[in-house]
Amino acid sequence: MTDIVELTALAPDFTSDPYPHYAALHARGPVHRVRLSDGQEVWLIVGHDESRAALVDPRLKKDWSDHPQWQPPEGTGQLLANMLQSDPPRHTRLRKLVTRAFTARAMEALRPAVQQITDGLIDTMLAKATDGRADLVEALAYPLPMTVICELLGVPDLDRERFRRWSDAFVTANGPSGRDGTQAEFARYLEQLIQDKRRSPGPDLFSTLIRTTDEDGDRLSGDELVGMAFLLLVAGHETTVGLIANGTLALLRHPDQLAALRADWGLLDNAVEEMLRYDGPVETSTWRYAAEPVEIGGTVLPAGDTVIVALASAARDAGRFSDADRFDITRDTRGHLAFGHGIHYCLGAPLARMEGRIAVRALLERCPDLALDADPAALTWRPGILMRGPVRLPVRVR
Ligand code: HEM
Repeated sequence: MTDIVELTALAPDFTSDPYPHYAALHARGPVHRVRLSDGQEVWLIVGHDESRAALVDPRLKKDWSDHPQWQPPEGTGQLLANMLQSDPPRHTRLRKLVTRAFTARAMEALRPAVQQITDGLIDTMLAKATDGRADLVEALAYPLPMTVICELLGVPDLDRERFRRWSDAFVTANGPSGRDGTQAEFARYLEQLIQDKRRSPGPDLFSTLIRTTDEDGDRLSGDELVGMAFLLLVAGHETTVGLIANGTLALLRHPDQLAALRADWGLLDNAVEEMLRYDGPVETSTWRYAAEPVEIGGTVLPAGDTVIVALASAARDAGRFSDADRFDITRDTRGHLAFGHGIHYCLGAPLARMEGRIAVRALLERCPDLALDADPAALTWRPGILMRGPVRLPVRVR
């Protein structure tokens, strides 16, 4: 009999600081049966090497429509027709359609726009902070990636409040299809957005994808178009918020590292990598399932069972990173799994890195006295095991 680890029994500690809990699990082995907050039981892989191996294991599948028992809840079919919920060959086909839009070179062309959006948000934050106080999540970390991804896709008029509600419900729920109830509404909204775009196309990524669907329907079906819009918008804005918030928090909690960065901007790129490693915004991988019995570290995961990979545990594995719990912006960060690994490696990594670097530098340059305005132990963290970041990050901007 495999012991079941009750993750909820570890709460609220687990949400605010999961790292010691992952370390304790890792000390017992790489594979654990865990019960999540909603009662579902899944296999959790911890530790760097086993996590890395699991992320490239072709027997751990992502296309839930092929699962023998799982039925997608009503209205989720379109949303799930996306590359992150696909296996080859569909995954290869979907990813190829958008790869070029997200290369490091394509991102360089976006740099001036990202800088301008960042500067505008910081202007507004400083103008509003008459008492010197601001919430960094609301003022910068959330709106920056959201605005950038909307610009890139060509949907500047997205109803951001509604979108945020749906998207949050999706990523804080456990499972491949999010929380029941809102998905159909979410899909209808995206369909409407696509209709509007079809009527007034522009030089943007969405218009290109719509043209591909309309002229060459077997390369991108109507459902896949909705799935693509869903994935790019959700992945594009739910994650980088945590890079900016968690990264700034780490700097403010480590004044020596903050001073080193302020003294030498040449450290910026590596500092952002260390932010991703030390307290990355994606705590666990998305859900996979075993298509056949899979043995990992001496445990056999039965066919059909769900598997998630604790990226946050891999990041603090002492066997991979020396003094792994130390935040050190000069360390060798190579091998962190914050963007995943294998065929589903984050498509938006060059964009996220650019946004993170621009945001952190602009913030520190514009706010020479930036300081935390809350006891770090009292911060509230986002619920769920997928995304990691404070709900609010109170700071003093002067
Ligand atoms: C710091 C910010 C980000 C982090 C830490 C991050 C992390 C990740 C991770 C861990 C995965 C793989 C999940 C898995 O294998 O289960 C992933 C996939 C993906 N990410 Fe990101 N992401 C970030 C930003 C972005 C941005 C800005 C976009 C822009 C559109 C994006 C788009 C995607 C897409 C499309 C995939 C699926 C790729 C595939 O299935 O081939 N991400 N991301």
